[in-house]
Amino acid sequence: MRLDDLEEVLTIERASFPHPWSRQAFVYELRENRVARLWVVRAEAEAKAPVVGYLCLWFIADEVHVTNFAVHPTHRHRGVGRHLLGSLLGLYRQEGALRAALEVRPSNEHARRLYEAFGFRQVELRKGYYFDTGEDAVLMEASLAPGSEVGDSGRTSGRAGGNPGAG
Ligand SMILES: CC(C)(COP(=O)(O)OP(=O)(O)OC[C@H]1O[C@@H](n2cnc3c(N)ncnc32)[C@H](O)[C@@H]1OP(=O)(O)O)[C@@H](O)C(=O)NCCC(=O)NCCS
Repeated sequence: MRLDDLEEVLTIERASFPHPWSRQAFVYELRENRVARLWVVRAEAEAKAPVVGYLCLWFIADEVHVTNFAVHPTHRHRGVGRHLLGSLLGLYRQEGALRAALEVRPSNEHARRLYEAFGFRQVELRKGYYFDTGEDAVLMEASLAPGSEVGDSGRTSGRAGGNPGAG
């Protein structure tokens, strides 16, 4: 993800979450936060193709923590999210990550199913985690250690257009 991508990213963000990240939040992650890695996926491989999804994470020591993840509403259920998540888990695994973690709303069944397909399992319920609704968060973790199931996800192949674009 680059600053130039932010208009498109913010459109997806606002269509995806009741309390979206602000522009400043993305800018901070892009410019200041040294552990942040932000990726977009485009509709096609060309650099100017529209952004259809993004995934933000922190890579700290041997852990990847997913901080934001969304696909444009018109591009959902086509494997874009699966492709993006699978590609990035594979990439950071190669770079030495041994585990991945994220928080998800208990009501977000679509996302939870996707995470479970990559080996994420609930490890904790964080009470009142979401300030907007007071909803609890499910903390999910997956092992990326050699031999764990995440790396075998052949389900990512050939189901989404374009590769995650570096930024
Ligand atoms: C969660 C989210 C990122 C998933 O992205 P996505 O691109 O829709 O996900 P995928 O299509 O890769 O997900 C897999 C689902 O689509 C189905 N699918 C994948 N490829 C498909 C295809 N070619 N045709 C039809 N269905 C397909 C899968 O079977 C799976 O279905 P399931 O939910 O019944 O298991 C997206 O729904 C989103 O942006 N949600 C709003 C924001 C959000 O909740 N983010 C997560 C916060 S924790």
